[in-house]
Amino acid sequence: MSDWDTLFDELYLRTYAQLGDPETGRRQAEGVVRLVGLEPGADVLDCPCGYGRHSIEFARLGLHVVGGDRSQALLAEAKRRAGEDEWPRFVRADYRELPFEDASFDCVTNLFTSLGYWGDEDDRRAIAEFRRVLRPGGSLVVETMHRDHLMAIYSPRSWRELPDGSLVIEQREIDYERGLSVTRHELVEPDGNRLAAPYEVRVYTATELIGFARDAGFAQVSCYGDFDKTPLSRDTRLVLVAR
Ligand SMILES: C[S@@+](CC[C@H](N)C(=O)[O-])C[C@H]1O[C@@H](n2cnc3c(N)ncnc32)[C@H](O)[C@@H]1O
Repeated sequence: MSDWDTLFDELYLRTYAQLGDPETGRRQAEGVVRLVGLEPGADVLDCPCGYGRHSIEFARLGLHVVGGDRSQALLAEAKRRAGEDEWPRFVRADYRELPFEDASFDCVTNLFTSLGYWGDEDDRRAIAEFRRVLRPGGSLVVETMHRDHLMAIYSPRSWRELPDGSLVIEQREIDYERGLSVTRHELVEPDGNRLAAPYEVRVYTATELIGFARDAGFAQVSCYGDFDKTPLSRDTRLVLVAR
């Protein structure tokens, strides 16, 4: 069983906030702006925003960005990193029931494999919520692992050392029938302290996510392998744009 609220807390900050280099957040934010043609002043919802790495870059590009996330710990870190500027703003938000009026945004971003946690029906609800809060003609951008790529790069275990000397150890299995990547994620800190979170992520095919977007009422759905429109393949992640 997954314990998302334990993973997306101190454990996530101690692991991924160390790994995520600022350059990646900047490159991806610029990629979204080019891909959907956003002008300064456009209203953007970055959900989930995690510790704010894309929201902060969107704001630097002149966008009026709201970062929404379920995790209080990650929102607090996002606020700390963003400082006192007017944008980005951060709001506690569960994407299955967004606390925003209909037609509030020109673009919604859902980046870094941020669906697949709560079951297929909840992901359908989330995509319907993203559409509800978009203005007519607005764009949803989803960037995620997809099943074909997972199959191409799958390895049952891995470990890496973080800058502070901690070790991240991951053991993975695939549940082929349910389409799940089942992971035991463990952080071993330099003093020997261990933090662990098992989790199961539903890893969709592009075809499945296109179906979810169409069912939610999006008229036009395109898939790429990156923000620069690299063709989608088993060797790329998935960037889905729904209008
Ligand atoms: C893999 S992280 C990605 C965060 C961010 N997009 C990034 O690239 O750094 C997934 C995020 O989803 C958030 N999350 C999980 N379930 C959520 C939900 N139901 N509603 C809103 N946020 C959620 C977690 O708190 C976490 O910040």
